[in-house]
Amino acid sequence: MMRLLALATALAPVWAQVYAPSAGVQPPRPTGLGIVMSYPRPDFPEGELDTYGAEAKIPQYGAWYHYEQKPIPENTVAAPEFCPSLDPNTPPGEREYTMDVEYRAGSPDGFLRRMTVINGQFPGPIIEAVEGDTMVIHVNNHLDEPATIHWHGIHQNGTQYMDGVPGFTQCPIPPGGSFTYRFKLGWEVGTFWYHAHFGNMMADGLMGALIVHSPDDPLNDAADVDQMLYVADHWGDNSQTIVHAAKSPEGYRGCAPVDVPDSVIINGVGQVDCGFVQRGVPCNTDVPPYEVRAACGNKVRLRVLHHGSHSLLYVSIDEHTFTVIEADDTPVQPFQAKELVLAPGQRYSIVVEMNQGSHGDGYWIRARAGTGCYNPKWRVEGMAILRYFDHGWSDEHFALPETTMWEGLPDMGKPGCRDMDDIGYSLAPLDPTPPAPIADETFVFATVIGEFTDPITGHYVGWGFNNISFVNYVNDPLLQLVHDGREISPKRIASATFTGHVADIIINQLDGAPHPFHLHGRPAYIVGRGHGTINSTEGVELNLVDPPLRDTVTIGPNSWIVLRVPLDNPGVWAIHCHMGWHQSVGKMAAVVVRPDIIRTFQEPEEVAALCTRDPDEVALGRRRYPPRR
Ligand SMILES: *[C@@H]1O[C@H](CO)[C@@H](O)[C@H](O)[C@H]1NC(C)=O
Ligand SMILES: *[C@@H]1O[C@H](CO)[C@@H](O)[C@H](O)[C@H]1NC(C)=O
Ligand SMILES: *[C@@H]1O[C@H](CO)[C@@H](O)[C@H](O)[C@H]1NC(C)=O
Repeated sequence: MMRLLALATALAPVWAQVYAPSAGVQPPRPTGLGIVMSYPRPDFPEGELDTYGAEAKIPQYGAWYHYEQKPIPENTVAAPEFCPSLDPNTPPGEREYTMDVEYRAGSPDGFLRRMTVINGQFPGPIIEAVEGDTMVIHVNNHLDEPATIHWHGIHQNGTQYMDGVPGFTQCPIPPGGSFTYRFKLGWEVGTFWYHAHFGNMMADGLMGALIVHSPDDPLNDAADVDQMLYVADHWGDNSQTIVHAAKSPEGYRGCAPVDVPDSVIINGVGQVDCGFVQRGVPCNTDVPPYEVRAACGNKVRLRVLHHGSHSLLYVSIDEHTFTVIEADDTPVQPFQAKELVLAPGQRYSIVVEMNQGSHGDGYWIRARAGTGCYNPKWRVEGMAILRYFDHGWSDEHFALPETTMWEGLPDMGKPGCRDMDDIGYSLAPLDPTPPAPIADETFVFATVIGEFTDPITGHYVGWGFNNISFVNYVNDPLLQLVHDGREISPKRIASATFTGHVADIIINQLDGAPHPFHLHGRPAYIVGRGHGTINSTEGVELNLVDPPLRDTVTIGPNSWIVLRVPLDNPGVWAIHCHMGWHQSVGKMAAVVVRPDIIRTFQEPEEVAALCTRDPDEVALGRRRYPPRR
């Protein structure tokens, strides 16, 4: 630790020359607990290129950039319950929740900022249901900006207008407005989540878990303790500030793709290096890392959920292997692992056996950001603690763990950047239902970093699908547009339209960095993946026996994937990069399933009632764009 700290200090004067900070350099200093979790890669080779082909730069933290900080509200955020508790045998019925969306003061990683949270909590409250429930969720928007909530992984089969995507399924809930999401669950069971889908507001704190229980869930008896482990890369600046900067010619902190995070947080707690943060903002990292506590002999199910916005996160627990039992919401054939790799949007359930220590012992839980996947020059880690805590003992204060990481885990300078099923774990479903043997239709998407033009901010470096960066006319949702029989213009978004029963979606991911893709509407079978590009599945070897079935999948550098998608849920579904900073600058496309059936839909009155504003307004623009086509 000391050695790395010394390195960081030694580098500081070099940065000063290169980036000429306006108000003097603050040397990095140890954080409150002496845990420094971001530092330069010690063996960084000179002149190495980043994965987008530019010379890799030392990340430019807040200490060199001054963005407007939002006013700090009086009330502060509170931590939620982390353990789901609804009895799976509860009879299905109507399950009602109220979400008051408001600003609160928070400092997840020590840097004080305005957060956007639900019911005063970060992460947000766990929404729980049983299979077949009808969800009634009242959302009151107390913000001064529009909002929507998306129910990640929920099919919305029959309630397509409730998917919560502005510009796709609804107009946003205006500041001061309210909206009730009402949807019936079908066969969804397992670990889901919800998050804001307006810009990248989920990065401000608007998110939480959504757990659907069932008496038939094969994972019901998997463990003695069931709890959430939320992991995320985190930024101190407000999401709108970052998205606006990312869409400008100079990028955010001088970097076009929003690059390394300030910190990694676990269950809402992290440790930024206060030496790097924007001057004048209170920074205090005395908050101890989150502790998962369980008794000796217990089996602990951790539902690991990545709610961050960019980095792959590599999650391990010192001296403990674990059993992976669920990928997104699909129970999988159990397998042992020492480390998970998750992309934003993905979930895994792991079972950890408390069989290595005794009461009071602590072991580090690590969430290492795969910074080498895009900028090999830096490392950022988050830490939490696995604590042996036998019942009947008092709530003592324990020392920080002194354990070391498993040997042989990948170096974050070159972590490989591939999904679990791409590095040798099959992720075969526990109860495999083979996909249809052939697809009726195939659509090919290509996606790569490139230069786009925004009518307001001008040229920016960003992403799209098939060279089209999504222009989100939030008040003219695509679902209603297709319902009305209008065409989706390629000036607005790339789209695939399917009219049969089964489709293959091929995605050629042409960047040197990995990206996770999320399909709304239902999970998809990952029947094939490989290096390079393909334009059809002819001659391509596909797994039609037990392919992974999930809603969010990482495609590695310069690679393709084939998603086989049953077309059993008519609608206009988003498919997008789940890196929030990429999705919010246009890396999003539309998948239209059965337009003939969509035309028979009836838009709920309360959804139509939200569409009172200028249909030419574009998300985050708050200004008129050239009229939509
Ligand atoms: C995107 O545009 C570039 C430059 O106009 C072109 O070279 C490339 O072939 C296009 N790619 C796709 C997938 O349309
Ligand atoms: C796929 O199509 C693109 C554009 O038509 C072409 O440049 C590329 O070579 C094709 N790839 C393969 C593997 O056939
Ligand atoms: C949608 O509902 C139909 C009819 O009940 C069902 O067959 C299908 O599996 C459902 N699709 C999804 C994705 O839930």
